[in-house]
Amino acid sequence: MKVLVVGAGTMGHGIAEVCALAGNEVILCDINENILKNALSRIEWSVRKLEQKGRIKGADDVLKRLKTTTDLVEAAKEADFVIEAVVEKTEVKHEVFKTLDENCRDDVILATNTSTIPITDIAMATKRKDKVVGLHFFNPPTLIRLVEIIRGRDTSDETVRKTVEFAKSIGMDYVLVERDVPGFLINRINIRVFVEAIRLLEEGFKPEQIDAAVKYRAGLPMGLFEVVDFSGVDTVYNVLNEVRKRGFEVEVPGLLERMVLEGRLGMKTGKGFYEYSGFYTRAKI
Ligand code: NAI
Repeated sequence: MKVLVVGAGTMGHGIAEVCALAGNEVILCDINENILKNALSRIEWSVRKLEQKGRIKGADDVLKRLKTTTDLVEAAKEADFVIEAVVEKTEVKHEVFKTLDENCRDDVILATNTSTIPITDIAMATKRKDKVVGLHFFNPPTLIRLVEIIRGRDTSDETVRKTVEFAKSIGMDYVLVERDVPGFLINRINIRVFVEAIRLLEEGFKPEQIDAAVKYRAGLPMGLFEVVDFSGVDTVYNVLNEVRKRGFEVEVPGLLERMVLEGRLGMKTGKGFYEYSGFYTRAKI
């Protein structure tokens, strides 16, 4: 199968890797050449590491199955299944879905990795609302082998069935979210927890203290601020704004807005709640 992944950022490159590891041909599309280059080198690093550890064989073959492009129209024409992972902004998603709808074969399912935007809303940009579905991965998709499969108002049973098959074929467990509710299941909970953690920060606690508490006492695998830095401060900020716009009662902490304006986006820029260097920072864009 030829899978088109649109958006090669924090999530897109990991999703592309998971799809290629499962034996699919993958086209990774982004508007930015530097991001594509960076995505490929991160995938290569990860695939080689998996081979060194004996977890996979044939890293070269996996890498050969991946190609990159900035031409969404041409890529859409070749795709058998699409996963969109562009920025969490409704207008950008609409533009991408319109282009996909106009250029993909009629039978192609268009899945979105959105964290918060209703599937029903994204589907509005297309004439194939029955074939638009949520396929929500978690970061990093190579390690967290779970997806939420979200049914929009118009998503057909067949689309859900085929998406479940696809998720299984790339080695993912899944949770079926039968109602298109804001934040779906897991982010609905995460959002509340994270905003509460920011309140503690504003009351004078330090990220290290809060993260140590949740890791060593609440048993979470990563600290809350580590997760936000890893996910992208901008992505979390966009997620909060999107759910709030849709009537979900949540405050968007001013601190996050300031961090976004200052370019403190987390690992990808080398600075977020913590500081990073080397491999994790991405090329200047
Ligand atoms: P990101 O900002 O790291 O990457 C987004 C990419 O989309 C960028 O490389 C950008 O150049 C590209 N892009 C923007 N407009 C485009 C267009 N018209 N065509 C092609 N590419 C375009 O964002 P991230 O974090 O990867 O998020 C992507 C999606 O995944 C969002 O919907 C987000 O809510 C969702 N998500 C994010 C998670 C995370 O932990 N970061 C977890 C699960 C879902």
